[in-house]
Amino acid sequence: METYETLRTIEQDALAELAEVQDEKDLDAWRVKYLGRKGLATQAIKRLRDLPPEERPAYGQAVNALKERLQHAFEERQEALKQRAMEAELRAEAFDPTLPGRRPPVGRYHPSNLILREITDIFKQMGFQVFDAPEVETDEYNFELLNIPAGHPARDMWDTFYTTNEGQLLRTHTSPGQIWAMRQFAPEPIRVILPGKCYRYEQVTPRSEMMFHQVEGLAIGHHITFADLKGTVVNFVRQMFGPERKLRFRCSHFPFTEPSVEVDMDCILCGGKGCRVCKYTGWLEIMGAGMVHPVVLRNGGYDPEEYTGFAFGMGPERIAMLKHGIEDIRYFFSNDIRFLSQF
Ligand code: PHE
Repeated sequence: METYETLRTIEQDALAELAEVQDEKDLDAWRVKYLGRKGLATQAIKRLRDLPPEERPAYGQAVNALKERLQHAFEERQEALKQRAMEAELRAEAFDPTLPGRRPPVGRYHPSNLILREITDIFKQMGFQVFDAPEVETDEYNFELLNIPAGHPARDMWDTFYTTNEGQLLRTHTSPGQIWAMRQFAPEPIRVILPGKCYRYEQVTPRSEMMFHQVEGLAIGHHITFADLKGTVVNFVRQMFGPERKLRFRCSHFPFTEPSVEVDMDCILCGGKGCRVCKYTGWLEIMGAGMVHPVVLRNGGYDPEEYTGFAFGMGPERIAMLKHGIEDIRYFFSNDIRFLSQF
């Protein structure tokens, strides 16, 4: 009976040790020690030799039963360890199913497009429709038809990028769009604005970029006077910058308007007293404008004896800079998320 005693001892030791096993490695060592080919439970079968033949079957069964129980205990322990590892992992990740989900980052409108929308909304109320004109232009539309012949000194103000095609260039202002709009609608009266990109070959500074937007405005009809231009611009500026804004129309020159003006608004920061933003003048320039030149009217298909019109051109980036206190125009196109996400 001493043989069975040994089996019981093996079983007790094995189960006691198994209860202490804490990880995969110890578990495997335990399996080798008891259930491996040279393991204690496996080797116990060798005792068979010492037993009388009639006792051997019973002993064999006892050894097999022991091995089965140990195998079962092993699997249970293995499962328990796996479970425990998983719980520890979940705890480490601190997964809280009650937390609200994370929002994926969402894009937004570019500040130039936002201000373009504001501008077009204001002009839409005054009956202006948006007209699209090409960015890749010809010398004829960008200059000639706007009364700026080759060699005209005004061309110095509008140097641009030329393509390899003779006479083809990137437009320096939205004014060539005036010709496209006139030629489409003449002799009907029109009220259009033309927002879009323009290009200039010049030094990039905090105040000038090589690419920027403009919004051109054009109204043509019977009896349109300079007073209509003033009323339209005053209404626009007061909607954009507040009803207390004052305007100043300063004599200027553009070859495609006669008379020509530059429009200043009293400084939104100091109210005209003089500060850093207005360079101590009290005024901020916001656009160029004037009555459409008779030559341009004729180039567009209108009889200047019968029709008159006004036009203006402004830089929306400049409008946005004044509105939001942005100090450098280069922010608009440098693609810095820290800037763009503020709008
Ligand atoms: N095209 C002019 C510029 O780029 C602005 C302008 C537009 C002036 C329409 C008068 C009339 O500076």
